[in-house]
Amino acid sequence: MAENMNWWKEGVFYQVYPRSFYDSNGDGIGDLPGITQKMDYLAWLGIDGIWLSPFFESPMDDFGYDITDYVNVDPIFGTLNDFDALMAKANELGLKVVLDLVPNHTSYKHPWFVESRSNRNNPKADWYIWHDAKDDGTPPNNWAAVSNIKTVGSAWAWDETRQQYYLASFSPVQPDLNWRNPAVKAAIMDVVKFWLKRGVYGFRIDMIDYLSKDAEFRDEPQATFDAKDYISASVYHVNQIETMHYVRELRTLLDQYPNRVTIGEVAYHQPLDLLLKFSEYGLDMPFNFRLSIAPLTKEFLTGFIKTYDETLTDKAQPNYSFANHDVLRGMRLGEPRARLAALLLLTLRGTPFIYYGEELGMENVDVPAERRQDPFVSYESGGNRDTNRTPMQWSAEPFAGFSPIEPWLPLGVNYATLNVEVEKQHPSSMLNLYKRLIDLRRAHPALHQGHMSVLDFDSNVYGYTRTANDDQALVLLNLGDVQEEVTLPEGDWRLQISTHHTQGDTPVTSPLTLQAYEGVVLAKIS
Ligand code: GLC
Ligand code: CA
Repeated sequence: MAENMNWWKEGVFYQVYPRSFYDSNGDGIGDLPGITQKMDYLAWLGIDGIWLSPFFESPMDDFGYDITDYVNVDPIFGTLNDFDALMAKANELGLKVVLDLVPNHTSYKHPWFVESRSNRNNPKADWYIWHDAKDDGTPPNNWAAVSNIKTVGSAWAWDETRQQYYLASFSPVQPDLNWRNPAVKAAIMDVVKFWLKRGVYGFRIDMIDYLSKDAEFRDEPQATFDAKDYISASVYHVNQIETMHYVRELRTLLDQYPNRVTIGEVAYHQPLDLLLKFSEYGLDMPFNFRLSIAPLTKEFLTGFIKTYDETLTDKAQPNYSFANHDVLRGMRLGEPRARLAALLLLTLRGTPFIYYGEELGMENVDVPAERRQDPFVSYESGGNRDTNRTPMQWSAEPFAGFSPIEPWLPLGVNYATLNVEVEKQHPSSMLNLYKRLIDLRRAHPALHQGHMSVLDFDSNVYGYTRTANDDQALVLLNLGDVQEEVTLPEGDWRLQISTHHTQGDTPVTSPLTLQAYEGVVLAKIS
């Protein structure tokens, strides 16, 4: 069968956080063979692409976003052979695997950094961003480190041996690579080639906006260190034009293989024209994080979706997600709204990203202080990111069938009912809602490739049509806590999915009554 060139525009992505997906060898931590063993489940769910968060060799100070060897699997997760087996299984099932590429920084334990910091004139002396202190011993400029969207002080860390500062835009254990050094760029491009040769379909690129910095290291003009404003207002620390050129080079490299995709993490609050600029230089999907940090209200959707859709048009591929390994899960919205979020995610024009466990309605887990693992502060919860990284809930067995022993993070308290096995049996479960939505999306060109037109309702109802030639879908969401009546656009409509019941494919008449927090997808009968 000819491969769908548009797989990443039309398909659905699923993010696997390897530590928490499935533990195959009983050490309490998820691993690559575990992902392979559970891949039939992903195929059943109906997704197209899998984004794997890092599984490379790492001291795990930031759970893999701090790498010591880009082209090897950390023993905790398995071996390169395990990776090849994972790829073989994915190919067999027609799933496309995308890896996390962390090009901005390595671990401070990476041999490159160990060498770089050993003195001022070793072969790798210039692989990281070194700078003398000011005369008074303070850091070279006022750039701030951003720990998952909270600024945490200076981005410069002092090194005793070199008697210099090195730049660490995220944390001192993650020194920034010097992309202005061609050898560094070449080394990362080699990493990309390594994984492309092993069959991966593209990369999710970590902190892509940080790749190049002002060559003169000028102070940021604004002194506010609220992280949200810091990154958006940054003129010198992020988003230099050279970054765009690196994006283009990366694109050229990927173009040697058919249909590969690049997804880039551009900071959460960046303006849309910046996202467009990244696309112009070849980044297929600048990540759109808005839904993962916003309330799900009519006001918010009205203010954001239409503008986003119309700004991107066909210049960049829209994309949406409600959760990831850095922010709270969709259940922060409460279950009724989390169900609406699922409906929205899988019917908007753009590529949906589902974070593992979202399809079960997994909760944000209140991890007790003594069991906390993540050293960094979370943007929203004020705690840390363990909350949204707890083990996948497979069954009602001990430890949710994730592992035979107590896992690295505690389980959600309600895993006995909230798990894959149990939810599969219940037609109205979150899991079956996701599955039905994914199936419907695949069945209707209107939903996976149609254009979108947002409708205007004088109530708490938000809605839009999706249209591809003769195929038309109408999506309506009641975001309020009282029932609403909606006059349907002209034509004969049939109900396909409701968040409130499981009855499929039935005719409906206008006006249609939507219960509080009910969302529906209707299809037009031609
Ligand atoms: C990105 C990742 C986050 C990581 C950080 C530093 O924001 O998503 O998990 O901690 O980069 O690499
Ligand atoms: Ca394991």
